[in-house]
Amino acid sequence: MSLARVKTVTSNVIAIDGPAGSGKSTVSPLVAEKVGLEHLDTGLMYRVIAYGCLDQQIETNDPAAIGRFADEIEFEAMGNGVVEYEGQSLTSELRTPEVSKLVSVVAANEDVRNEMVRRQRIWVQSRGGGVLDGRDIGTAVFPDAKLKIFLIADLDERAKRRSQDSAESVEAIAADIARRDKVDSERESMPLRKAPDAIEIDTTGLAIDEVVAEIVEKWSKLNV
Ligand code: CDP
Repeated sequence: MSLARVKTVTSNVIAIDGPAGSGKSTVSPLVAEKVGLEHLDTGLMYRVIAYGCLDQQIETNDPAAIGRFADEIEFEAMGNGVVEYEGQSLTSELRTPEVSKLVSVVAANEDVRNEMVRRQRIWVQSRGGGVLDGRDIGTAVFPDAKLKIFLIADLDERAKRRSQDSAESVEAIAADIARRDKVDSERESMPLRKAPDAIEIDTTGLAIDEVVAEIVEKWSKLNV
């Protein structure tokens, strides 16, 4: 099915974009719960493709092979960071250094992006809305989303947050997220970018609850 044929439901969409470790996947499910919508972490969709490529020994130097794999792969994002794939519930497996290294390659592949965007739009359409976090939700997936948030934070703080649930050093994590931000911002297809009408929130030094409250307040004002 072509992208154009999937009608988008945008009135009930909160798009939360931003670079790695800016707080999207922590804040987004909490926002979703408060506003009564479901949450989709689109980063996990790209991560499960990278995981699947490694698992199925797909030739990762062959963009067409990765694209075909993305068309065929069956998985279900369950919320709370869990993805069901091939009878397994994947969580930490999607955040290994190997997957994090490959995910930027996979996510820069245009065929992969078109297929994931198609699935994200269907996901929203079948629920009548949702809170989606990613890199391109406000710019490419739902450019008419009712509320667009762009989260940022200092690289140092982002690396420290990530190091709390990782065995890697803060320096190694900082290098990985800086590398991914660069690739994500410079790729041709749907790059990481703040939509002109997105509200930027700098989460450096803010508590999770403060960020959630700010987003929920902005949503409430739009819905009075
Ligand atoms: O959680 P973290 O910020 O480390 O990354 P993620 O949200 O799990 O996304 C992993 C990777 O998927 C990113 O570095 C991007 O390359 C890609 N991604 C994307 O291209 N578009 C999205 N909407 C979401 C993720």
